[in-house]
Amino acid sequence: MRILITGGAGFIGSHVAEAVAAEYPRAEIVVFDKMTYAADYENIAHLLVRGRRWLVVGDLCDFEKCMEITVGVDVVMHLAAESHVDNSFGNSILFTRSNTLGTHTLLEACRLNGVGRIIHVSTDEVFGETRDGSHTEADSLNPTNPYSASKAAAEMVVNGYLYSFKLPIITVRANNMFGIRQFPEKIIPRFCMLAFLGRQFTLHGTGQNLRYYLSAADFARAMITILEKGAVGTIYNVASEDEYSNLEVRDLIAEAFGIDGEANTTFIQDRPFNDYRYSIVCDRLLALGWRQRLHLKDEIPAIAAWYRDNAQRYTHIF
Ligand SMILES: NC(=O)c1ccc[n+]([C@@H]2O[C@H](COP(=O)([O-])OP(=O)(O)OC[C@H]3O[C@@H](n4cnc5c(N)ncnc54)[C@H](O)[C@@H]3O)[C@@H](O)[C@H]2O)c1
Repeated sequence: MRILITGGAGFIGSHVAEAVAAEYPRAEIVVFDKMTYAADYENIAHLLVRGRRWLVVGDLCDFEKCMEITVGVDVVMHLAAESHVDNSFGNSILFTRSNTLGTHTLLEACRLNGVGRIIHVSTDEVFGETRDGSHTEADSLNPTNPYSASKAAAEMVVNGYLYSFKLPIITVRANNMFGIRQFPEKIIPRFCMLAFLGRQFTLHGTGQNLRYYLSAADFARAMITILEKGAVGTIYNVASEDEYSNLEVRDLIAEAFGIDGEANTTFIQDRPFNDYRYSIVCDRLLALGWRQRLHLKDEIPAIAAWYRDNAQRYTHIF
């Protein structure tokens, strides 16, 4: 079996590559990645094996390259994307290019090369702000920032390929994720680095925005469950039970570093639009047997320790 993992040198892609390598030790694994600032060769170096698991550097928007890498591929797990909402306010066209046009280009190559199964990774942010209740997979999309709009647009392209070409695609939409190897632009790794460097935590607005946090390792297990038991043409939400405000996340990290969170916080101007909350339920995935195993509050000490031990990777950006 040959599995192509796009974005595999980034945060979640590296966890998915790790889980796939453990679950299918004999499989050929190709990581395809543009190696943007968010990627790191170190994220996957431990997984690469000459002739069996390798990295191909390239851009999703390069059709010839997508054709090359999808020849003979049985499964594509598509995670490559520009993923940081804050950046999407400044350079929104790059988000549409990589996330929407890039997905389209990859799907076209998958179609022409007859790829057997594609799992497209999307986000709970496509539903937009959800003050009350939770979204099922059937609800309509209402993205509110250029990042989530580019991901929702990619889902529309997926839908078109599903109906018009019967391309065997499954879409997954997940909560915010946590784990090691996340580039320190998002709140958890950034605050770990700020705490390590003795700097102030910077919180958007009032810090009261809520997010559910899902472990990247739990998500990677969900990808394998969906590959093995999921139905083509279906969307699966992947949801955690653990909801935290940004202030609560700060406090967990401050505690792990033994510092006073409140005394070390500076509030900064909020995003142009900052969704207060996202919420999804994942009954479909639960019916396939997947369960959440890891919880943010239990994992934070180990994540904090990892950033302390690997701080040299990231100090240049602070
Ligand atoms: N991080 C989260 O909390 C979260 C939550 C839900 C869904 N997602 C989705 O999961 C996926 C992975 O997110 P992440 O947090 O690991 O992101 P990340 O930014 O850490 O990694 C993304 C990877 O994609 C690569 N990439 C970007 N543009 C590319 C292009 N044009 N061609 C090829 N490679 C390209 C980057 O080099 C990087 O390695 C994304 O699709 C994202 O939308 C993320």
